[in-house]
Formats: sequence, C-alpha cells, structure tokens
Amino acid sequence: MKRFDGKTAIVTGAASGIGKATAERLASEGADVVLADLNLDGATIVAAAIAREFGVRTHALAFDAGDRDSCRAMVEHAVALLDGLHVLVNNAGIMDWAKAEEYPDDRWERMIRINLSSVFYVSKHALPHLLRTRGAIVNMSSAAGLNGVPYAGGYCAAKAGIIGLTRSQAIEFADRGVRVNAICPGAVDTPLNSVTVPLPDWIEPMKLMGLAPKTGKPSAPAEIAAAVAYLACDEACNVTGTMLSIDGGQTAS
Ligand SMILES: NC(=O)c1ccc[n+]([C@@H]2O[C@H](COP(=O)([O-])OP(=O)(O)OC[C@H]3O[C@@H](n4cnc5c(N)ncnc54)[C@H](O)[C@@H]3O)[C@@H](O)[C@H]2O)c1
Repeated sequence: MKRFDGKTAIVTGAASGIGKATAERLASEGADVVLADLNLDGATIVAAAIAREFGVRTHALAFDAGDRDSCRAMVEHAVALLDGLHVLVNNAGIMDWAKAEEYPDDRWERMIRINLSSVFYVSKHALPHLLRTRGAIVNMSSAAGLNGVPYAGGYCAAKAGIIGLTRSQAIEFADRGVRVNAICPGAVDTPLNSVTVPLPDWIEPMKLMGLAPKTGKPSAPAEIAAAVAYLACDEACNVTGTMLSIDGGQTAS
C-alpha cells in the first residue's frame, strides 16, 4: 500500500521544476493528479509521461494563477475530473529582479496576483472539498519569504504573504481536519533559478552573499517534492502551520 493510493491531488505550476517533480512524486506514491499550468502543452507532456510511468490517472489543465476566475474554474474542473480532492499543492510562481524605484506598477501587481493572491483563491475554492476528505494544503513559499532579497521586493512580499496565509489557515482549520503547511526552499536547480530569470549583471555581489546555501549546493526539485509528499501524507497528521526550510542552511544565519 502506497501513501497516496486512492488519493487525489492538484499541483499548480506542474509543467516544470518543483511542480513537475511534485506531480511525479505524488503519482509514484499512488495519487491521481491534476497538473495545472499556464503552459498547457508542457503540462500535457508531463501528465502523459507520469500516467505511463506510474499507472495513475493524470489530467493537464490550463490555468492562469494571475486570474481569480481561472483559479476558481480550474479547481471546479479538477475536482470534477478527480471526483474529490485530498491534496492541494500551491506551487505556481514567477520571479523577477528590478530596482525598487524603477519597478513598474503593473509588474508589482502581477507578482502579487500570481505568487500570493492565487494561493488564496485556489485554496478558497479547494477548501470545501478538502474539508470533506480531511485533506492537506502545501504552499510553496521561499527563503525569500523569511529573509530579504535585494531587488526582489515584490517576490519577497508575496512569499512572506504566503507564510502569513499558511499560518492563519492552519489555525483556522486545525480542528476541522485540514492541515496547511508551507515549504521555504532556498536555491533550487530549476529553470526559474537559472534559465528563465537570470541574475542581472548590475547587482552588487556583496548584497547577494547571504543568499548562498551554506552547503555550497542548490537543492534538486525532487528533494523539495519529497518534502511536499511528507507534509501532504497521513504520517504528518499532526503537522500544521509549519514553514519547512530546505535551503542548505541559507537562513540559519
Ligand atoms: N527555483 C528556486 O530556486 C525556488 C526557490 C524558492 C521557491 N521557489 C518557488 O517554487 C515554485 C516553483 O518554481 P520553480 O523553480 O519550479 O519554477 P519553474 O519556472 O521551473 O516552474 C514554474 C511553473 O509555474 C508556471 N507558471 C508561471 N506563471 C504561471 C501562471 N500565471 N499561472 C499558472 N502557472 C504559471 C510555469 O509555467 C512553470 O511551469 C515557485 O512558486 C517559486 O517561487 C523556487
């Protein structure tokens, strides 16, 4: 018997990186999974590969985390396809670098909508279903939600907001069977951290010194996925309101 046999999950941002690894991990342990992403083609390829490899049901759904109607519609569609919901992983996110005095207003609002408001809206519409199954939510925050990162104020504010939301909902639902936790990764080896959001050459290296993992290496997406699976599974039945740092000691000092 695997930990997620007979269980169902939604993973947002599952076409790439941590979300892809999380969908793979939950499926490898028996879960039927909806992979929701702005990149439907990418999610479709990953969903098909997972179904082939692990023999579970998967569905790829297009959704824009920056649009609250899309968040609601995605959850409704996913729950209908899965016939219920046990696990929600709010993982979709974006990152950018900019000087605060030059940060365009529309980029600030987009950052907060995609990285923070989506967590609220997707959870809001998933909670009635999670209450029925006494399910679990795992939110993807960041070390940037715990400590400051220069030239990434919008990202840090959104990720800190996820921590506040996670703690608040953990208390709100603790006696109703739904657990709400978050993970705070430091550097993870994904496209977001290297390819799609390269570090601008104008950033002073001294200001970034505190961001390096003390272990000297970034985490692999599968390491974050293993932690998601733990927080979502019944072995973590008394774990709620936790911010789990996986950052190579980055935030230890
Ligand atoms: N990579 C890191 O170092 C790191 C560190 C800490 C936290 N995180 C967080 O982990 C999460 C996953 O990041 P990743 O590194 O795997 O990045 P990634 O770029 O590999 O994957 C992000 C996924 O989110 C999707 N996405 C982006 N905007 C979306 C939108 N508006 N609606 C729906 N889907 C959208 C993308 O299509 C992509 O599939 C993010 O929330 C990120 O902030 C990443």
